[in-house]
Amino acid sequence: MSFDLVFFGGTGDLTWRKLVPALFQAWRHGKLPEGGRILAVARDERSDDEYRTFIRDRFCDVESAKRPSDEEFARFAALLHYRRMDLSQPEHYAGLKQWVEARGADTVVLFLATSPHLFPQICAQLGAVGLNGANVRVVLEKPLGHDLASAQEINRVVGASFRESQALRIDHYLGKSAVQNLTALRFGNALFEPLWRRESIANIQITIAEALGVGSRGDFYDRTGTLRDMVQNHALQLLTMIAMEPPATGDADAIRDEKLKVLRSLKPFTAEAIARDVVRGQYRAGNSAGQAVPGYLEEAKVPPDSRCETFVALRIEIQNWRWAGVPFYLRTGKRLAARDAQIVVNFQPTPHSIFPGLSQPNKLVINLQPEDGLKLHLLAAKGARQHEALSPVSLDLDFDKAFAENRVGGYERLLLDALAGKLNLFVRSDEQEQAWRWVEPILHAWSQDSAGPRPYAAGTWGPAAASALVARDGHTWIEEQ
Ligand code: BG6
Repeated sequence: MSFDLVFFGGTGDLTWRKLVPALFQAWRHGKLPEGGRILAVARDERSDDEYRTFIRDRFCDVESAKRPSDEEFARFAALLHYRRMDLSQPEHYAGLKQWVEARGADTVVLFLATSPHLFPQICAQLGAVGLNGANVRVVLEKPLGHDLASAQEINRVVGASFRESQALRIDHYLGKSAVQNLTALRFGNALFEPLWRRESIANIQITIAEALGVGSRGDFYDRTGTLRDMVQNHALQLLTMIAMEPPATGDADAIRDEKLKVLRSLKPFTAEAIARDVVRGQYRAGNSAGQAVPGYLEEAKVPPDSRCETFVALRIEIQNWRWAGVPFYLRTGKRLAARDAQIVVNFQPTPHSIFPGLSQPNKLVINLQPEDGLKLHLLAAKGARQHEALSPVSLDLDFDKAFAENRVGGYERLLLDALAGKLNLFVRSDEQEQAWRWVEPILHAWSQDSAGPRPYAAGTWGPAAASALVARDGHTWIEEQ
């Protein structure tokens, strides 16, 4: 399959930090289809060779195991091309179309790695010059909109030029291998599915914790906040993967229909429920990995009186037969105690214990990062004496070890899927809009609430109110267990 992969925003951070390195890995692993060209487009004048040098220099910032040798880079760089484009000029799109059509590749993927405010303009222009034929797909990076209305507007403009099956909305969390393993765990094995419901599960916790602060992105972050940056997309996508019904087939729409049903079943937030079940926080100065770090308000490009949240915890209910009464706790934030993303499924306790000592309910921990694996916590008898208290043990699966050389990174997976036209891991417009519809009342309530976010010290697990949120139901976050 021949392809042309075009990066709008070809000199931007996302392209050189994530996308080109991911393509290099795909190429190194022999997974990138033959006969491909990668074209970066951006505003300034450069030759292909100058762009290749630019990319080679940027590889110094990529972790060493993922950097090319000189010989590898020379071969990989032959795929890289550069074209100057002023995105406001219709004739520049016509020029791009000619460049693409001169070769007539089987597949053309246009990746919009620009600021999202340019998406409508780029999509409209691509449609106007006819660079939207059946072999063309457009990939849209988050953030897709700021609220429901802006997301709908982007979808409307994109939809005027591209069919839904041609518009691929990226949520890079869906590219993480642990997330694909979650689907495999649930629907490739008969063991867990009968237990995956209210009768056996007491609660489910989703944590996406980051140790880093907002760094140099203070201005972007302050306009965005954690609810828009992480909850509306990554965290809710994880929730849909855990909670969805078994799809009828592995086809993209069969899966996305089920995910949409979960989003539609989320109990809507009332003002009262927001005050009770949603906690927002903002980090203050503290310690991260033994280093003193500033608070959010001291970060570059953050207004000193900002009320932007850097942490959110929520108690969520899903209103359907499978999940009625099972709380889903979700939390995510910056400058937390560790970089850690995991899903914890806490099972019900045994109905009656015949052993001395405390009984401890089983739990399944699905680790997304930094490790990628599964841990099933059980109780076992050491066998040292009769009538002994049981001891906690765990069955551990480390996917990085089990599948070592076959591991594919998130962006690598998503780029290969975009080239192959496999849409399972891309978000459909109705899912994305439904997620906005659900978070909007929270945004609205916060804008009216004079209290602002609760402070927490950098390097901790967030405001105490996040623990209280879970404790109210008689549960605890995993690190408190
Ligand atoms: C991005 C957010 O979508 O995801 C960032 O904009 C966040 O703020 C990042 O840091 C987290 O991704 P990962 O893969 O490093 O957990």
